[in-house]
Amino acid sequence: MRDDIKEVLITEEEIQEKVKELGKLLTEEYQGKFPLVVGVLKGSLPFMGDLIQQIDTHIELDLMDVSSYGNDTVSSGEVKIVKDLNTSVEGRDVLILEDIIDSGLTLSYLVKLFQYRKAKSVKVVTLLDKPEGRNVDLVPDIAGFIVPDEFVVGYGLDYAEKYRNLPFIGILKPEIYQG
Ligand code: PRP
Ligand code: MN
Ligand code: MG
Repeated sequence: MRDDIKEVLITEEEIQEKVKELGKLLTEEYQGKFPLVVGVLKGSLPFMGDLIQQIDTHIELDLMDVSSYGNDTVSSGEVKIVKDLNTSVEGRDVLILEDIIDSGLTLSYLVKLFQYRKAKSVKVVTLLDKPEGRNVDLVPDIAGFIVPDEFVVGYGLDYAEKYRNLPFIGILKPEIYQG
């Protein structure tokens, strides 16, 4: 698996350090608020798992499964709800967790959906932001790292469902997705 990686972009240690930093910010932001923390499956799972342990105030968890990429490296352009929330967002402070914002399509869809469902507030935290990929206007409230316009995998991010279990963020060798 690791032979398929051209370059490690963000190490495991750098990720964990950033996660602690973000946890501190969110602990202050949501003190006494009981936010609904929504992880976007499947990519946000490792980030969510680590980050929530660094938020030192009460939170409620839920998960939403949306998909826009299928097994391709480029977005299909449409967002599909695979699994909706179990919880009502009405009147809630919603905090969406993502692994990466690329075109912005997934998150702009979710932010609008939760606003339409009358959330009290909707904020977005993403581990990675790829501003060069943007097609729709979407600025995260908090972004951990800015990444270049390359196909990155690991720590939740997949190529054809693989590499999500790598503990670091790496750039895939082009021959892997060029076949
Ligand atoms: C990826 C990633 C983000 C989204 C970002 O998810 O995890 O959710 O794409 O791209 P965008 O900003 O262009 O919408 P994907 O749809 O591949 O599903 P997955 O998390 O299950 O891999
Ligand atoms: Mn995703
Ligand atoms: Mg994917």
